[in-house]
Amino acid sequence: MEKEEIININKIGWNKLINSKKQFANTSLPEYGPFFKRNQNDIKLFENIKDAKVLDLGCGAGQSLEYLYQRGAKEVWEIDISEEQILKARNRFPKFRDNFYVSPMESYIEIKNYFDYVISIFSIGYVSDLSKTFENVYKYLNTYGEFIISWTHPFYFCLDIDGNNVILNKSYFKEDSEIITKGPDKIELAQKNVMISTMINTAIKNNFYLDTILEEETVMKDDVNGYKSNFWRKEKTQNCPSTIIFKFKKYI
Ligand SMILES: C[S@@+](CC[C@H](N)C(=O)[O-])C[C@H]1O[C@@H](n2cnc3c(N)ncnc32)[C@H](O)[C@@H]1O
Repeated sequence: MEKEEIININKIGWNKLINSKKQFANTSLPEYGPFFKRNQNDIKLFENIKDAKVLDLGCGAGQSLEYLYQRGAKEVWEIDISEEQILKARNRFPKFRDNFYVSPMESYIEIKNYFDYVISIFSIGYVSDLSKTFENVYKYLNTYGEFIISWTHPFYFCLDIDGNNVILNKSYFKEDSEIITKGPDKIELAQKNVMISTMINTAIKNNFYLDTILEEETVMKDDVNGYKSNFWRKEKTQNCPSTIIFKFKKYI
Protein backbone atom coordinates (compact mmCIF):
# COMPACT_ATOMS: atom_id res chain seq x y z
CA MET A 1 0.00 0.00 0.00
CA GLU A 2 1.33 3.47 -0.88
CA LYS A 3 2.01 5.91 1.97
CA GLU A 4 -0.57 8.42 0.70
CA GLU A 5 -3.19 5.69 0.52
CA ILE A 6 -2.55 4.63 4.15
CA ILE A 7 -2.87 8.22 5.35
CA ASN A 8 -6.08 8.79 3.36
CA ILE A 9 -7.80 5.61 4.52
CA ASN A 10 -6.97 6.38 8.15
CA LYS A 11 -8.01 10.01 7.91
CA ILE A 12 -11.42 9.07 6.51
CA GLY A 13 -11.76 6.11 8.89
CA TRP A 14 -10.95 8.01 12.08
CA ASN A 15 -13.19 10.92 11.06
CA LYS A 16 -16.05 8.45 10.77
CA LEU A 17 -15.17 6.51 13.91
CA ILE A 18 -15.66 9.48 16.20
CA ASN A 19 -19.35 9.41 15.29
CA SER A 20 -19.78 5.64 15.45
CA LYS A 21 -20.70 3.67 18.54
CA LYS A 22 -17.28 2.06 18.68
CA GLN A 23 -15.34 2.99 21.79
CA PHE A 24 -11.54 3.07 21.82
CA ALA A 25 -11.64 0.27 24.39
CA ASN A 26 -8.96 1.24 26.89
CA THR A 27 -6.50 2.99 24.63
CA SER A 28 -6.35 6.20 26.67
CA LEU A 29 -4.26 6.87 29.74
CA PRO A 30 -4.25 5.76 32.49
CA GLU A 31 -4.86 2.57 30.44
CA TYR A 32 -2.10 1.56 28.04
CA GLY A 33 -4.14 -1.01 26.16
CA PRO A 34 -7.09 -3.42 26.22
CA PHE A 35 -7.25 -6.03 29.02
CA PHE A 36 -4.22 -4.66 30.84
CA LYS A 37 -4.13 -5.62 34.52
CA ARG A 38 -2.02 -2.63 35.53
CA ASN A 39 -2.33 0.91 34.32
CA GLN A 40 -0.27 4.10 34.58
CA ASN A 41 -1.24 4.47 38.26
CA ASP A 42 0.60 1.18 38.94
CA ILE A 43 3.32 1.25 36.28
CA LYS A 44 4.30 4.92 36.72
CA LEU A 45 6.18 5.22 33.42
CA PHE A 46 5.92 9.01 33.60
CA GLU A 47 8.31 9.80 36.40
CA ASN A 48 7.94 13.56 36.36
CA ILE A 49 4.69 14.79 34.93
CA LYS A 50 4.56 17.90 37.12
CA ASP A 51 5.10 20.97 34.88
CA ALA A 52 5.92 18.76 31.90
CA LYS A 53 5.27 19.72 28.29
CA VAL A 54 3.59 16.83 26.53
CA LEU A 55 2.92 16.12 22.86
CA ASP A 56 0.43 13.35 22.00
CA LEU A 57 0.73 11.77 18.54
CA GLY A 58 -2.60 10.33 17.42
CA CYS A 59 -4.26 11.98 20.38
CA GLY A 60 -7.84 11.08 19.43
CA ALA A 61 -10.20 13.25 21.44
CA GLY A 62 -7.49 14.07 23.99
CA GLN A 63 -8.42 11.74 26.88
CA SER A 64 -4.79 10.76 27.61
CA LEU A 65 -3.75 14.40 27.73
CA GLU A 66 -6.59 15.19 30.08
CA TYR A 67 -5.29 12.52 32.45
CA LEU A 68 -1.76 13.97 32.31
CA TYR A 69 -2.98 17.56 32.61
CA GLN A 70 -4.96 16.68 35.73
CA ARG A 71 -1.73 15.31 37.18
CA GLY A 72 0.22 18.51 36.68
CA ALA A 73 1.40 18.66 33.04
CA LYS A 74 1.94 22.33 32.16
CA GLU A 75 1.29 22.26 28.41
CA VAL A 76 -0.50 19.78 26.22
CA TRP A 77 0.00 19.57 22.46
CA GLU A 78 -1.48 17.19 19.93
CA ILE A 79 -1.04 15.97 16.39
CA ASP A 80 -3.78 13.86 14.84
CA ILE A 81 -4.64 13.02 11.27
CA SER A 82 -8.38 13.45 11.86
CA GLU A 83 -9.94 16.92 11.99
CA GLU A 84 -12.98 15.46 13.76
CA GLN A 85 -10.84 14.03 16.57
CA ILE A 86 -8.91 17.29 16.89
CA LEU A 87 -12.16 19.25 17.07
CA LYS A 88 -13.21 17.22 20.11
CA ALA A 89 -9.78 17.57 21.67
CA ARG A 90 -9.86 21.36 21.18
CA ASN A 91 -13.23 21.52 22.89
CA ARG A 92 -11.74 19.63 25.81
CA PHE A 93 -8.85 22.11 26.07
CA PRO A 94 -9.97 25.57 24.84
CA LYS A 95 -6.88 27.04 26.54
CA PHE A 96 -4.53 25.01 24.34
CA ARG A 97 -6.54 25.03 21.10
CA ASP A 98 -3.63 26.52 19.10
CA ASN A 99 -1.41 23.61 20.14
CA PHE A 100 -3.57 21.11 18.24
CA TYR A 101 -2.51 20.18 14.70
CA VAL A 102 -4.43 18.26 12.08
CA SER A 103 -1.55 16.44 10.44
CA PRO A 104 -0.06 12.98 9.97
CA MET A 105 2.61 12.35 12.61
CA GLU A 106 4.94 11.41 9.74
CA SER A 107 5.09 15.12 8.81
CA TYR A 108 7.38 17.36 10.82
CA ILE A 109 5.91 20.39 12.58
CA GLU A 110 8.47 23.12 13.23
CA ILE A 111 9.06 22.67 16.97
CA LYS A 112 12.51 21.75 18.26
CA ASN A 113 13.98 20.58 21.60
CA TYR A 114 10.78 21.46 23.41
CA PHE A 115 8.90 18.53 24.91
CA ASP A 116 9.55 16.48 28.05
CA TYR A 117 7.31 13.70 26.78
CA VAL A 118 6.03 12.60 23.41
CA ILE A 119 3.41 9.84 23.65
CA SER A 120 1.68 7.56 21.22
CA ILE A 121 -1.01 5.48 22.89
CA PHE A 122 -2.37 3.02 20.35
CA SER A 123 -1.65 5.07 17.26
CA ILE A 124 1.83 4.09 16.04
CA GLY A 125 0.63 1.11 13.97
CA TYR A 126 -1.43 3.42 11.72
CA VAL A 127 1.58 5.31 10.41
CA SER A 128 2.83 5.05 6.85
CA ASP A 129 6.47 5.70 7.82
CA LEU A 130 7.73 4.56 11.23
CA SER A 131 11.28 5.83 10.79
CA LYS A 132 10.17 9.33 9.78
CA THR A 133 7.96 9.42 12.88
CA PHE A 134 10.93 8.57 15.15
CA GLU A 135 13.05 11.15 13.32
CA ASN A 136 10.43 13.84 14.05
CA VAL A 137 10.07 12.82 17.69
CA TYR A 138 13.83 13.09 18.18
CA LYS A 139 13.61 16.73 17.12
CA TYR A 140 10.53 17.50 19.22
CA LEU A 141 12.01 16.22 22.48
CA ASN A 142 14.32 18.20 24.72
CA THR A 143 17.63 16.65 25.80
CA TYR A 144 16.14 14.48 28.54
CA GLY A 145 12.83 13.92 26.80
CA GLU A 146 11.13 10.53 26.59
CA PHE A 147 9.06 8.80 23.93
CA ILE A 148 6.38 6.45 25.33
CA ILE A 149 4.56 4.13 22.95
CA SER A 150 1.89 1.49 23.42
CA TRP A 151 0.54 -0.69 20.62
CA THR A 152 -0.93 -4.14 20.05
CA HIS A 153 1.61 -6.79 20.95
CA PRO A 154 3.02 -8.15 17.65
CA PHE A 155 2.48 -11.76 18.67
CA TYR A 156 -1.15 -11.03 19.59
CA PHE A 157 -1.63 -9.88 15.98
CA CYS A 158 -0.88 -13.41 14.79
CA LEU A 159 -3.58 -15.09 16.88
CA ASP A 160 -7.09 -15.98 15.87
CA ILE A 161 -9.95 -18.09 17.23
CA ASP A 162 -11.18 -21.29 15.60
CA GLY A 163 -14.08 -22.79 17.56
CA ASN A 164 -12.71 -23.34 21.06
CA ASN A 165 -9.10 -23.08 19.98
CA VAL A 166 -6.72 -20.17 19.75
CA ILE A 167 -4.71 -20.61 16.57
CA LEU A 168 -1.72 -18.99 14.92
CA ASN A 169 -3.24 -17.50 11.79
CA LYS A 170 -0.74 -14.94 10.59
CA SER A 171 2.98 -14.65 10.22
CA TYR A 172 4.81 -12.66 12.88
CA PHE A 173 7.04 -11.36 10.07
CA LYS A 174 4.18 -9.76 8.14
CA GLU A 175 4.50 -6.01 8.76
CA ASP A 176 2.74 -4.47 5.74
CA SER A 177 -0.25 -2.25 6.44
CA GLU A 178 -3.49 -4.09 5.87
CA ILE A 179 -7.11 -3.06 5.76
CA ILE A 180 -9.13 -3.97 8.84
CA THR A 181 -12.63 -2.94 9.87
CA LYS A 182 -13.60 -1.55 13.26
CA GLY A 183 -16.84 -1.58 15.18
CA PRO A 184 -20.47 -2.27 14.24
CA ASP A 185 -20.27 0.17 11.31
CA LYS A 186 -17.32 -1.79 9.88
CA ILE A 187 -15.21 1.28 9.29
CA GLU A 188 -12.05 0.64 7.29
CA LEU A 189 -8.59 1.46 8.66
CA ALA A 190 -5.08 0.59 7.50
CA GLN A 191 -2.98 -0.79 10.34
CA LYS A 192 0.16 -2.82 10.68
CA ASN A 193 1.98 -5.19 12.93
CA VAL A 194 5.34 -3.90 14.20
CA MET A 195 7.83 -6.59 15.22
CA ILE A 196 9.65 -5.92 18.49
CA SER A 197 13.00 -5.82 16.67
CA THR A 198 11.61 -3.35 14.11
CA MET A 199 10.47 -0.95 16.82
CA ILE A 200 13.75 -1.10 18.74
CA ASN A 201 16.01 -0.97 15.66
CA THR A 202 14.06 1.97 14.20
CA ALA A 203 14.46 3.80 17.50
CA ILE A 204 18.21 3.07 17.61
CA LYS A 205 18.64 4.20 14.01
CA ASN A 206 17.05 7.52 15.01
CA ASN A 207 19.33 8.01 18.05
CA PHE A 208 17.13 6.66 20.82
CA TYR A 209 17.86 3.93 23.32
CA LEU A 210 15.40 1.60 24.97
CA ASP A 211 14.77 2.45 28.62
CA THR A 212 11.81 0.12 29.35
CA ILE A 213 9.82 -2.54 27.55
CA LEU A 214 6.71 -4.05 29.14
CA GLU A 215 4.76 -7.13 28.16
CA GLU A 216 2.10 -7.05 30.81
CA GLU A 217 -0.29 -9.61 32.12
CA THR A 218 -3.92 -9.17 31.19
CA VAL A 219 -7.23 -9.60 32.97
CA MET A 220 -9.45 -12.41 31.78
CA LYS A 221 -12.61 -10.71 30.57
CA ASP A 222 -15.01 -10.97 27.66
CA ASP A 223 -15.29 -7.26 27.11
CA VAL A 224 -13.29 -4.08 27.50
CA ASN A 225 -15.38 -1.52 29.38
CA GLY A 226 -18.56 -3.09 28.00
CA TYR A 227 -17.22 -3.22 24.44
CA LYS A 228 -17.06 -6.69 22.88
CA SER A 229 -14.82 -7.19 19.90
CA ASN A 230 -13.83 -10.08 17.65
CA PHE A 231 -10.21 -9.01 17.83
CA TRP A 232 -9.90 -8.42 21.59
CA ARG A 233 -10.72 -11.80 23.10
CA LYS A 234 -9.88 -13.10 26.56
CA GLU A 235 -9.00 -16.55 25.15
CA LYS A 236 -6.12 -14.97 23.23
CA THR A 237 -4.79 -13.10 26.23
CA GLN A 238 -4.44 -16.25 28.33
CA ASN A 239 -0.99 -16.94 26.92
CA CYS A 240 -0.04 -13.71 25.21
CA PRO A 241 0.03 -10.04 26.19
CA SER A 242 -2.50 -7.87 24.37
CA THR A 243 -0.27 -4.83 24.43
CA ILE A 244 3.39 -3.90 24.34
CA ILE A 245 4.81 -0.72 25.85
CA PHE A 246 8.11 0.96 25.05
CA LYS A 247 9.84 3.87 26.69
CA PHE A 248 12.70 5.36 24.65
CA LYS A 249 15.15 8.07 25.61
CA LYS A 250 17.45 10.19 23.46
CA TYR A 251 21.14 9.52 23.12
CA ILE A 252 22.85 12.75 24.06
C1 LIG B 1 -6.99 4.48 18.97
S1 LIG B 1 -6.91 6.19 18.64
C2 LIG B 1 -5.83 6.73 19.89
C3 LIG B 1 -6.50 7.17 21.11
C4 LIG B 1 -5.73 8.24 21.84
N1 LIG B 1 -4.32 7.96 21.88
C5 LIG B 1 -6.21 8.51 23.21
O1 LIG B 1 -5.39 8.49 24.10
O2 LIG B 1 -7.38 8.73 23.41
C6 LIG B 1 -5.84 6.35 17.22
C7 LIG B 1 -5.69 7.80 16.75
O3 LIG B 1 -4.58 7.87 15.84
C8 LIG B 1 -4.91 8.81 14.82
N2 LIG B 1 -4.05 8.55 13.65
C9 LIG B 1 -4.08 7.51 12.81
N3 LIG B 1 -3.10 7.60 11.88
C10 LIG B 1 -2.42 8.73 12.18
C11 LIG B 1 -1.28 9.38 11.61
N4 LIG B 1 -0.63 8.87 10.56
N5 LIG B 1 -0.86 10.53 12.17
C12 LIG B 1 -1.50 11.09 13.23
N6 LIG B 1 -2.58 10.52 13.81
C13 LIG B 1 -3.03 9.35 13.30
C14 LIG B 1 -6.40 8.61 14.60
O4 LIG B 1 -7.02 9.71 13.99
C15 LIG B 1 -6.90 8.34 16.02
O5 LIG B 1 -7.35 9.52 16.62
